[in-house]
This record gives sequence, structure tokens and C-alpha cells, in this order.
Amino acid sequence: MKNRGAMMFLAGLLGALAVGWIGFPRLLYRNEAQPMQFSHSVHTGENVGMACADCHAFNEDGRFTGIPAVAKCAECHSAQLGETESEKQLVEEYVTPNREIPWLVYARQPENVYFSHAPHVQLAALSCERCHGPHGGSENLRPLQRNRVSGYSRDIWGPRMTRISNKPWEGMKMNDCSRCHRERNVQESCLDCHK
Ligand code: HEC
Ligand code: HEC
Ligand code: HEC
Ligand code: HEC
Ligand code: HEC
Repeated sequence: MKNRGAMMFLAGLLGALAVGWIGFPRLLYRNEAQPMQFSHSVHTGENVGMACADCHAFNEDGRFTGIPAVAKCAECHSAQLGETESEKQLVEEYVTPNREIPWLVYARQPENVYFSHAPHVQLAALSCERCHGPHGGSENLRPLQRNRVSGYSRDIWGPRMTRISNKPWEGMKMNDCSRCHRERNVQESCLDCHK
């Protein structure tokens, strides 16, 4: 009888853990869809053959331009080239009325963090993949998962609650920045990264 009670307790505990483990992330994060679909692979693949820097360039003053403005898209999409729904949306909702596309940024850091691409890409010659994974070859855009409490993108923490066996680009917490700086002997102080 005593054993049976213990078994029931254990089964209940495991059940609760499983529900928490699977259910907690669903409760913690809210899915937000991108304003439209976009395929990196169509543009960076053989047919169109664009380089990353054709859309993600550095200004003359060394500032990273980030996501291209709709004027860049208009160079080729002033009228529809193909038949896809997403391209139709691009032309009708954004290019023709000349409206910017309100993209959501998966890697967005909190307001109080200062990050600049120039030292990382131009001086340290790090690849985009080191910090962004395979996004540059992606076929479609997943929803951004926003933490309901902090408002941060899930990509800051990374996909696994435990953060065990993360790939190098999975997660960009303060420790992840500093680990790489330590490995490469980069001197850092609080005010280098915090405004
Ligand atoms: C035709 C223009 C174009 C080209 C070429 C292009 N991108 Fe993009 N990129 C975009 C647009 C538009 C977005 C915003 C939508 C999105 O997140 O994909 C973006 C977003 C990104 C992001 C931001 C992800 C985030 O955190 O939100 C990364 C990283 C990125 N691109 C990497 C690359 C890499 C690497 C290449 C080259 C292999 C590349 N891109 C080539 C247009 C382009
Ligand atoms: C150098 C020319 C060029 C530029 C610049 C360009 N595209 Fe394209 N894009 C193409 C071509 C070619 C296709 C393939 C057309 C087809 O057959 O569907 C395409 C396809 C697309 C499609 C439909 C396929 C898909 O799901 O991605 C979308 C949406 C799109 N582009 C969005 C954009 C956006 C947004 C920008 C600006 C950030 C942009 N493009 C910039 C040439 C370009
Ligand atoms: C050392 C890590 C690192 C490397 C290398 C890196 N990025 Fe980023 N990227 C980030 C971080 C962190 C953010 C978020 C910045 C913020 O929120 O202030 C970001 C944001 C972005 C964005 C969103 C717009 C913006 O400027 O905030 C794009 C687009 C992007 N990166 C593209 C690229 C491309 C293309 C490359 C390769 C040429 C690259 N990144 C290399 C860490 C990196
Ligand atoms: C994969 C390695 C790597 C990651 C991840 C990384 N950095 Fe860096 N960072 C570097 C290197 C290397 C330099 C030095 C570049 C140079 O000056 O040659 C640097 C320089 C800097 C600098 C300039 C200050 C200085 O002392 O040179 C700042 C600020 C900075 N990083 C902030 C960040 C932040 C914030 C993050 C996380 C969001 C981050 N870095 C993630 C490698 C990295
Ligand atoms: C290499 C860049 C870097 C340096 C140096 C750095 N930080 Fe941060 N810090 C970050 C980033 C990125 C975040 C946001 C991601 C996160 O929450 O870990 C952050 C977040 C924080 C937070 C908020 C924590 C939270 O969970 O919301 C505090 C507080 C903080 N930093 C304090 C400091 C102090 C104090 C120092 C100096 C001892 C320092 N940081 C040095 C990059 C840095």
C-alpha cells in the first residue's frame, strides 16, 4: 500500500514536471508574426545570387545599415516579377505606397545594451553565422517569440530552457558576449556594452 502511494506520487510529480517543461515555454512566450514573408534563400541562392552586403552594408562612417529599406526592394520589385502572394503583398502594401516594412528583429537586445557590428564584422572578421546561425539561407520567417514578462525576443535566451548543448549562435545573454570576449582577450567594462 505504502509503495503504491509512492508510485502515485512519483507519477504525479513526473506528470507535473512534463506539463511544466512543455507548457511553461508556451505560457512564457507570445508568438508575433512578421509583417510579410521573405525568403533569404531565393535572393542569396543561384538564381538571383545576391551577397549579404548587397542588402546589409556598412555606411562610409562605419555604421551598419541593418535591414534594408524598402527602396532597396523597389530596385527590382517596382512591379511583380513572379506569382507569389508575398511578392504581391510587397508591391501593393509597401513598394507602391513607399511604406517601410515593420520587420521584427529576432536578435534585438534590450534598450540598455549597446552593440555595434563594425568591431565584430570589420575588425574581428566574425561570420554572420557565428551569431545569427543559418538565417541568411532561410526560406521563410518564423514568428518572433516574445517573453511576456521582459518583452525580450526568445533568441536572447535561446531555444532550450536549460541552455545545455546550445549551438554557438543559440542565445546572446551577457555571458555569451563575455565568453567570446574572454576567449579572444577583448578588454571589456560595463560601459562598453551598457549605455
Ligand atoms: C534582398 C536583400 C537581402 C539579402 C541579399 C540578404 N538579406 Fe538578410 N535580411 C533582409 C531582410 C528584408 C531582413 C528582415 C526580415 C528577416 O528577418 O529575414 C533581413 C534580416 C536579416 C537578419 C536579421 C535577423 C534578426 O535577428 O532579425 C540576418 C542575421 C540576416 N538578414 C542575414 C543575412 C545574411 C547572412 C545574408 C547573406 C547570406 C543576407 N542576410 C542577405 C534582406 C536581405
Ligand atoms: C536584385 C533584385 C532584387 C532585389 C533588390 C530584391 N529582390 Fe525580391 N526577388 C527577386 C527575384 C528575381 C525574385 C524571384 C521572383 C519569382 O520568380 O518569384 C524575388 C522574389 C521575392 C519574393 C517572393 C519569394 C519569397 O517568398 O521571397 C519576395 C517576397 C521578395 N522577393 C521580397 C523582397 C524584399 C522584401 C526585398 C527588399 C529587402 C527584395 N525582395 C529585394 C529579386 C530581387
Ligand atoms: C558578434 C555577433 C554578431 C555578428 C558576427 C553579426 N551580428 Fe548581426 N546582430 C547581432 C546582435 C547582438 C544584434 C542585435 C543588436 C541590437 O539589438 O542592438 C544583431 C542585429 C542584426 C540585424 C538586425 C538589424 C540591426 O542592425 O539591429 C541584422 C540585419 C544583422 N544583425 C545582420 C548581420 C549580418 C548580415 C552579419 C554578417 C555580416 C551579422 N549580423 C553579424 C550580433 C551579431
Ligand atoms: C564570437 C565572439 C564575440 C561575441 C559573441 C561578441 N563579441 Fe563583442 N567583440 C568581439 C571581438 C573579437 C571584439 C574586438 C574587435 C577588435 O577591436 O578587433 C569585440 C568588441 C566589442 C566591443 C568594442 C569594445 C572593445 O573593447 O573593443 C563591444 C562594445 C562589444 N564587442 C560588445 C558585444 C556585445 C554587447 C555582445 C553580445 C550581445 C558581443 N560583443 C558579442 C567578439 C565577440
Ligand atoms: C560584453 C558586453 C557586456 C558587458 C561588458 C556587460 N554587460 Fe551587462 N548585459 C549585456 C547584455 C547583452 C545584456 C542583455 C542580455 C541579458 O539579459 O543577459 C546585459 C544585461 C545586464 C543586466 C540586466 C540583467 C537581466 O537579466 O535583465 C544588468 C543588471 C547588467 N547587464 C549589468 C552589467 C554590469 C554591472 C556590468 C559590468 C560589471 C555589465 N553588465 C557588463 C552585455 C554586457
